Amino acid sequence: MSPKELRSVFILLTFAAIMANDHVKFQAIISHCKEYGFIFPSSEIYDGLSAVYDYGQYGSELKKNIQDYWWKSMTQLQDNIVGIDAAIFMHPTTWKASGHVDNFSDPMIDNKDSQKRYRVDHLIESFADELEAAGKKDQADALIASMESLLAKSDFEGLKKLIEENKIRCSVGGTSNWSDIRQFNLMFSTQLGSVSDEASEIYLRPETAQGIFVNFLNVQKTGRLKIPFGIAQTGKAFRNEIVARQFIFRMREFEQMEMQFFIRPGTQKEWYEHWKETRMKWHLSLGISSGKFRFHDHVKLAHYADAACDIEYEFPIGFKEVEGIHSRTDFDLKNHQEYSNKKLSYFDTELNQHYIPYVIETSIGLDRTVLMILSEAYEEEDLSTTDKKDSRVVLKFPPRLAPVKLAILPLVKKDGLPEIAKEILADCRGKFRCFYEEKDTIGKRYRRMDAIGTPFSVTVDYQTRDDQTVTIRHRDSMLQERIPIRSIREIVEKQIL
Ligand code: GAP
Repeated sequence: MSPKELRSVFILLTFAAIMANDHVKFQAIISHCKEYGFIFPSSEIYDGLSAVYDYGQYGSELKKNIQDYWWKSMTQLQDNIVGIDAAIFMHPTTWKASGHVDNFSDPMIDNKDSQKRYRVDHLIESFADELEAAGKKDQADALIASMESLLAKSDFEGLKKLIEENKIRCSVGGTSNWSDIRQFNLMFSTQLGSVSDEASEIYLRPETAQGIFVNFLNVQKTGRLKIPFGIAQTGKAFRNEIVARQFIFRMREFEQMEMQFFIRPGTQKEWYEHWKETRMKWHLSLGISSGKFRFHDHVKLAHYADAACDIEYEFPIGFKEVEGIHSRTDFDLKNHQEYSNKKLSYFDTELNQHYIPYVIETSIGLDRTVLMILSEAYEEEDLSTTDKKDSRVVLKFPPRLAPVKLAILPLVKKDGLPEIAKEILADCRGKFRCFYEEKDTIGKRYRRMDAIGTPFSVTVDYQTRDDQTVTIRHRDSMLQERIPIRSIREIVEKQIL
């Protein structure tokens, strides 16, 4: 083998090892989530439902804390953004006007031998990743460029040819026996009322954004809002995802946190840049390093956008989208005006002019953010010493996002220690989420708190009876210090506000 070939093999093997390691980490996170009450497969006793998950006692607290943090920074801390809560069911014409009935579909291809269905862009992208790992970056870049140009033209024959020319194989069956490429609409439909005719067919919303657009004038008028202003909301969305195998990364029922920012036509470029920067700062405020994020500009724009990008985070399964920033022009409001026959223009008193506002949208997946925070927090630490093997799994959540903030642990179940511990609990529980536990050794209890990411544990021991002090243990450093009981609340509150 030539030195060049040897180098390629080495790169390939290193890449494969890293990939395997990262895959192992991803699987470990999934198992940990189930074992410690974060996330369960939906209706598991019936063997689960594909790409649908339930949040358990700690997962739901984590999710709610993330949602609250987003809500606060996108509404409360902004002068000109208000929040709403629109219904999941909407008039069916909404989805005609928004373009989802005609355009909300993905090009898919089936492997005729294995019957496995792929999203065309995902199939080609993973082949490009393989090329890059094998040191063929130029070839990978050229492949992605061709794919993007064909996707932009919706040239399905060209895309199929590209797959065949590159001899891209099915990851299950290993063959290249491909079907034609077809579009699949991702919306779920159901019946409203008892008469099952076409008029009563409605959709489960595939994005929360349309609830904001149809309420644009209601909110603007009743809130006396002046452009530029924003409307935010969080809530469930539903998509019949074809490729949905990545835990809570791609689900069929998921939650979005979206904000539509209404602006004067012609100012979209500067506001687009503003929101790109603002949203990236929000991600960095979660304590994640900037190297773990990147922007990915869209080449193939959605039917409503004149510019769009994703904020991608480096998950254990690679860089993937967490949030989209979209310059949606006046597409939605203009179409709703046309389909509803109701005027949706705004009168700008400064310009003395009526116009349909342009919109910049920020749209982040709540479940993907949960996965990002879990991926960032999950650590397996080797704590072995020369004479003892030891390790721990710890979730190093930012304290404000942690499901439980404080564990209160009496050293033993007697001699008045539980009574003191319960007094501490009574003092703190109205302020932040606490966890009280008497069972097992203190070491085991600490480990359980590490595993659910509790940033502080206080232990009540015999000394507490004499001097009203407790030991506080810090989750990340595992350092312990003696503090007065009266300082507990302040120490925790300082970290979670
Ligand atoms: N209103 C614009 C919109 O919905 P999108 O890029 O389709 O844009 C926005 O979705 C965000 O919603 C994504 O960045 C992602 O975080 C989240 N998301 C989309 N589909 C999802 C799915 N199937 N499962 C989980 N999250 C999803």
